[in-house]
Amino acid sequence: MSRLMSRLVIVSNRVPAPRERTQLAGGLAVALRDAIIGRETLWFGWSGNAAATATSTTPTIAATGKVTYATIDLSAADYRGFYRGFSNTMLWPLLHSRMGLAEFRREDLAAYRRVNDSFAEALAPLLRPDDTVWVHDYHLFPLGAALRRLGAANRLGFFLHVPFPPPAIFASLPQADGLLRDLGAYDVLGLQTAEDAGFLNQALAAVGVPGEARVFPIGIDPGAFAAAARRAEAGPEAKRLTSSLSGRALILGVDRLDYSKGLPQRFIGFAQLLKRFPEHRGRVTMLQIAPVSRGDIDQYKSLRKELDELAGHVNAEHAEFDWVALRYLTRATARNTLAGFHRLARVGLVTPLRDGMNLVAKEYVAAQNPEDPGALVLSCFAGAAQEMDGAILVNPYDPDETAEALHLALSLPLEERRDRWRRMWQAVERNTARSWARGFLAELEGAEARAA
Ligand code: ADP
Ligand code: F6P
Repeated sequence: MSRLMSRLVIVSNRVPAPRERTQLAGGLAVALRDAIIGRETLWFGWSGNAAATATSTTPTIAATGKVTYATIDLSAADYRGFYRGFSNTMLWPLLHSRMGLAEFRREDLAAYRRVNDSFAEALAPLLRPDDTVWVHDYHLFPLGAALRRLGAANRLGFFLHVPFPPPAIFASLPQADGLLRDLGAYDVLGLQTAEDAGFLNQALAAVGVPGEARVFPIGIDPGAFAAAARRAEAGPEAKRLTSSLSGRALILGVDRLDYSKGLPQRFIGFAQLLKRFPEHRGRVTMLQIAPVSRGDIDQYKSLRKELDELAGHVNAEHAEFDWVALRYLTRATARNTLAGFHRLARVGLVTPLRDGMNLVAKEYVAAQNPEDPGALVLSCFAGAAQEMDGAILVNPYDPDETAEALHLALSLPLEERRDRWRRMWQAVERNTARSWARGFLAELEGAEARAA
């Protein structure tokens, strides 16, 4: 069998169950779903069940079409230490350069290593010698090394979906060198931007790990998203939204409820727009859809509380008896419905404090009507800002800058909106989910596998 025909094995912590496919919140699952179409694939990861008495090493198998899903359950203790603890209370803030929110516990690191070993133990017996194995994201830094210890001689690739911080920040992680050395087990390392790859390469060089991380910017399926947006525009939800707006311009934000997304600063930025540019009062409505994510982690709980209060405060101060300025929902929404909402929005507001890429920015662009497109206000700290020169870029830490950008976005003449949109659409079409996956896999399948 040729390498290109060999089976693809995807490993990610979060594995979308087939029934969840229309409502995925999270860039990794969304991009991979678009990327694997048509290839024999084994997708391995966590089942989402965290109540097992012990983390299992015997996966549950379910197949749909060409994709087979193999998932394992976590014990409650491993869920706490591996997922909630080390992955999301240490690595996530660290990788987003938010050390003030990070908490390190040795027992969490031990659980992280234990779960990676369990993943390897459960996966190794399923591997065929010519499988191409593609591991995703920060939950699984040590998986490649664990697989090598069990004798896997396959081509192993690793893609980091989130940013990589300056080496001095990464070095504040206790036992950081061990994780960097583990990355040396992979044949190809991929990141979203040149800056991220540069930081990781410096960190690897400092501990003497050979190899060089490469840049593979992730994307979406622009044609499919555009078609979904056109269809959804005529659907019942979009119609309800349009009629509720009573002709007001819509500013739309769509993000997981995560502190990396800059939501408090965004709400304040919107309030500043209403305060400093009163011509928009009563003429614009902001809708923020932010499904709860990692809701059992303290830092996320307090963010939720903060946003509830802020949203109430913004409306109490600015709303009128017949106009709610800020609408804020924490429910996940079907992708197609979201596509229709993006198309209706005069402004897409995407202001993460730091983000690997940010697919929502690309989805907003893809959803627009080319004849009458909206404008994108985008954080300069999202990976997407490297590609989208038609966006209005802001420093998301400055709510006044966000307010000024919103004012500009709401005031742009049609010709300029079209011109900016055309440039962004070109970028969205250039780097798609498929070209990202193909580029990474071509590199991986062209690489000589490292000896086990
Ligand atoms: P992250 O990976 O950090 O969540 P991205 O912007 O790269 O950020 O990807 C988020 C993905 O999740 C996008 O495809 C987006 O459409 C989807 N998503 C975000 N918010 C929602 C929501 N409220 N309901 C459904 N899907 C959502
Ligand atoms: O893209 C970043 C990411 O952390 C993915 O790895 C993850 O699947 C997604 O966001 C959603 O987070 P979680 O899996 O913790 O719900």
